[in-house]
Order: sequence, then structure tokens, then C-alpha cells
Amino acid sequence: MSGRIQAPRGTYDVLGEQALAREALERHARAILERAGYARIETPAFEATELFARGVGESTDVVQKQMYTFEGGESESITLRPEGTAPVCRAYVEHGMHKLPQPVKLWYLGSFFRRERPQKGRFRQFWQLGLEAIGSDDPAVDAESILLLAEILEAIAVRSRLRISSLGMPANRLRYRERLQQYLRANADRLSEEVVARIDLNPLRAFDSDHRGTQEMMEGAPRLLDELDPEDAEHFAQVRALLDSAGLPYEVDTTLVRGLDYYTRTVFEFTSDDLGAQSGVGGGGRYDGLIEELGGPPTAGIGWAAGVERMLLAGSVAQQAPPPVDLFVAYAQPGLREAAFRLAADARRAGHAARLELAGRSLKGQLTQANRAGARYVAILREDGTSLRDMETGEQQEVDADTIIHHIARVPL
Ligand code: HAM
Repeated sequence: MSGRIQAPRGTYDVLGEQALAREALERHARAILERAGYARIETPAFEATELFARGVGESTDVVQKQMYTFEGGESESITLRPEGTAPVCRAYVEHGMHKLPQPVKLWYLGSFFRRERPQKGRFRQFWQLGLEAIGSDDPAVDAESILLLAEILEAIAVRSRLRISSLGMPANRLRYRERLQQYLRANADRLSEEVVARIDLNPLRAFDSDHRGTQEMMEGAPRLLDELDPEDAEHFAQVRALLDSAGLPYEVDTTLVRGLDYYTRTVFEFTSDDLGAQSGVGGGGRYDGLIEELGGPPTAGIGWAAGVERMLLAGSVAQQAPPPVDLFVAYAQPGLREAAFRLAADARRAGHAARLELAGRSLKGQLTQANRAGARYVAILREDGTSLRDMETGEQQEVDADTIIHHIARVPL
């Protein structure tokens, strides 16, 4: 076998400016989330398959079609995480976080895996920034978490629209579901085959269909938002009032359904017109039954996740220039390589950004490199002495090699 091996379809390498942009995004997000009291959590890249089957829901596309599932040893089935909410809730239960002051506020940034058809903004390994606030059903937690995502998107110049809705609690949803199923069955001849096939399993997804006839039919379908229990309607009204008082514009979208089964009450999505077909930048909602589903005590929770690739595609992050090079160590004769190596290492240990010639260039080539790297000082080691050139002024002086670090110490460390 020969030939080049390429990265798998739907994956990519992060290089150069992209890496800087990601770092900048992470800096903004961390500052905004930690100011609001969120602490970082990282969970494993793979989990027991059952976590997603139970947590995300057997009827979802994610579980039915998109998971990378394999034998993980000890005849255990494991799955590369397709999303972060079920894993964070698993960790909440596993570490007894219900004993901490509630809500427990956690944020994460990591890669996730879904076997989807790759296209612009859609990958098989993608990154999500996400947060989960677990242990309170106060509408203020809903509103606060939505505001935080809005603030992050604004910080990285993503122009987005926010849609929100409420799905009510499961009993309410069940009643509505039956009504919707009746409606869909009565109009089955106008609906797509896929929607008809899912009437029993997941009728709400009919609102998501891109089939023309289905879309027309769904305009007249009963809306869950019109049939909420009074408590859920009141909860939603409070979330809206809080968003209003914070001055965050949104649109109530009665057709908003999310692709994961755990949602209850508030759901929301930020979309951007700058993204093309995959316009969802981030989304989330409440999942007040999920912790219990995973074997924990009855516990409310809410969160969201936003796609890093999509945020970077739709936004523009001011990148920080790489740190300036304080010292470039050049040497005139090969025999001085060790001394040069030591000097560069000492300078770095003293807190300076120091570089060393590593490709066997001539002295002239080394000086060109130093210039290209924007080095402030260049130390030139020769057998008959050492000189230090100030690249800003062009001045060059003979110095004792041992004093170079002292010479370049411009700022107190
Ligand atoms: P989700 O809507 O499935 O929600 O994903 C959130 C975001 O991840 C999407 O809005 C999108 O930006 C990004 N995303 C999803 N799939 C891909 C893909 N294949 N390629 C690139 N980006 C993608 C969740 O995952 C929930 N866990 C959110 C949540 C947290 N709900 C409550 N807490």
C-alpha cells in the first residue's frame, strides 16, 4: 500500500489563523461564562451507549442514525459522544452534585461526533461550546443562560436571530402529541412518507420537515404553545418577561422543535443568515426530566450548545498576534551550537520569548530568519566573542555572553 493518507471525510485540521481564532473565541467565552459563575467541566470523549439511548432518546436521528458506536472491551458498547448534555448530567449524578448549592453551573468546550453527511458548517467531528445549569427550574436561569449565549455571539460579531418556544412538561406534551397524531393521520395523504412513518414515534418532527406538502399542512396543525398547562404557560411568560427586561429581541416560534428528546418547557435556537443551509449556530432548552431518567433524583436543568465552526464561520474574532520574539540566538560556527542552545533555553527560563536557529542556516540566513520573526534582539555567538544587536535601533554591541539575559530584560518579569 502506498499513497497519501488524508483526514477522514467530515473532519479537518486546525492550523495557523484558525487556531488563533479558536483561542480568541475560547477567551471571550471563558470570560463571559466565568463572570456569570459557570465552572469548566470536561467529560470523556466516549460514554456507555445506553447513556445516549436513554438520555437523548431512541427515536431521535442522533441515536438512530448518527452515533459512532463500537465494542469498547469487556463486551461493553460505547459511543463517541454526539452531544454534551447527557454526559454532563451523568457526571452530575455520578459525583453527587445535588449536594452542592443549586443550580450547579457548568460549561464545556470539546469535540463531538455525529455520522452526518458533511457539508458547509456540518462535520462528523465538530466542536461545541456549551453550558448546563442543573438544579433549578427558576425562569431566571433560562433567561440568564440565553442572555449569555447572546453575549458570546455578540462578542465574536455573529449576527443572529433568536427563536424561543415552550414544549411544556411531559404529561402536557403527551396529550398534545395525541391530538397532533390525530391531525397527521387525518391528513396523511398530504404528508411526506418519512413524516407518516414517524407519526407514532415522533410526530413533532413533522414541523421540521422540508417537504412542501407537509409544510403547508403543518401551518394549520394544532400548536403545543396554545395548549400548555397553566403552570408551564406562566413559566414561559416569566422567561419572556425577563428577556424583555434585558432588552434581548426574540421571536416566539410555535413550530420550534429540537432534535433531541429530553427537552421540557423552554426551548430556543440562535440562527444566522450568514451560514447557508446549516443556519443553527446554537440552541438548547430545559430538560427537567433528564437527571431522573439517568437514575438521579428529580432535578431540573437547562443548557445550550453552540457549534464552534459555525460561530467562526458566521463571526469574526479579533485575533491576538503571536507573542513577540524577545531574543533570537544566532551562531557563526557549528561548534557554538551547544552554547547557543543553552542561551536560548536560559532566556526562556527567565521568561523571555527566545528562538534558536534550528535548520543549519548560514549566519546571513539566520539573521534573515530573526528579522522575519520580528525579533527585538539578536545574539550572535562567534568563536571570538558575542555581540547583541538591537533590531529596533540597529545598534550592535560586544557583550559578555553571560550578561545577555540581563541586557534584554526590558520589562520586569
Ligand atoms: P444541538 O442543537 O444538537 O444541541 O447542537 C448544538 C449546536 O451544535 C448546533 O446549533 C450546531 O451549531 C452545532 N452542531 C450540531 N451538529 C453539528 C455538526 N454535525 N457539525 C457542526 N456543528 C454541529 C445539542 O447538542 C444539545 N446538547 C444542546 C443543549 C445543551 N441542550 C441543553 N443543553
